[in-house]
Amino acid sequence: MKIIIDTDPGQDDAVAILVALASPEIELLGITTVGGNVSVAHTTANALKTLELAGRTDIPVHAGAARPLRRAPVDAAHVHGATGFEGVDLPPPRLRAQAEPAAEFLVRTLASHPPGSVTLCTIGPMTNIALALRHAPAIASRIGRIVAMIGAWSEVGNITAAAEFNAYADPDAAAAVFASGIPIVMVPLDVTHRLQISAARLSRLRALGNRIGPVVADWFAFEKRFEAEKYGTDGGPLHDPNTILLLLRPELYEGRSVNVRFETESPLTRGMSVVDWWGVSGLPANALVLRTVDADGVFALLNERLGRL
Ligand code: RIB
Ligand code: CA
Repeated sequence: MKIIIDTDPGQDDAVAILVALASPEIELLGITTVGGNVSVAHTTANALKTLELAGRTDIPVHAGAARPLRRAPVDAAHVHGATGFEGVDLPPPRLRAQAEPAAEFLVRTLASHPPGSVTLCTIGPMTNIALALRHAPAIASRIGRIVAMIGAWSEVGNITAAAEFNAYADPDAAAAVFASGIPIVMVPLDVTHRLQISAARLSRLRALGNRIGPVVADWFAFEKRFEAEKYGTDGGPLHDPNTILLLLRPELYEGRSVNVRFETESPLTRGMSVVDWWGVSGLPANALVLRTVDADGVFALLNERLGRL
């Protein structure tokens, strides 16, 4: 499977990248970065640090949008720390990002691979994808599918009462991508909130027996301190790695093909994903919205893959 990861690292984004690097089924064509959890300067540096951590200096990183299509930038530094990578001290990256911006890399790469052969895994705001579609609308028919950690149905919001962060950060981009006709698999909060990184799961990560295990455990320990307090749970949700894990074992996840739209105007509900789970809108399905998951199977796969690094 050829994939491109579009990302705003973010500790959980980095774990998604590591799972992809650990999986021989996956050929990671490149990483495109976007402003989201923290600035695009930080998210780009964090993507480079992740590749160096895994010893994979062969993967190109292309920096992308510093701000959303229309809205003022928001961040999640309160969750991920000022650099977006708190929890582990990694040295400044020696690697450098490519000169080619993310949207141009996406267009060029999708044009040079057979139609339908490339999967986009989006784990941050969708700004780069929306910009690429604006520059070259024809790529919509060349993208095999988008696997996106974004939105929610019954779990509603985590950054506002109504919206999940990746959608809230750039609701116009989310609306454009979900209206593009590209096949989409949506990993919402309804899935991630069923995947709590509990103390027991954290200790199993820490005990993987390689260098990566303790790093991932420290990243999650930092990132999830905030969410554990917010949700009153033992740990916090596993978000972004699901977009890679489901490529490897799709049977761990179940959902329904329904219509999904995003609120872009209302100050109260901006970024809300309006998931027509009961088919009452009469609008055509545009996304497979996942809802149930085999949590133990997901964490067993996560550990098995990270243990290979
Ligand atoms: O709402 C969860 C999403 O917001 C994840 O992608 C996490 O990295 C943050 O960006
Ligand atoms: Ca992310």
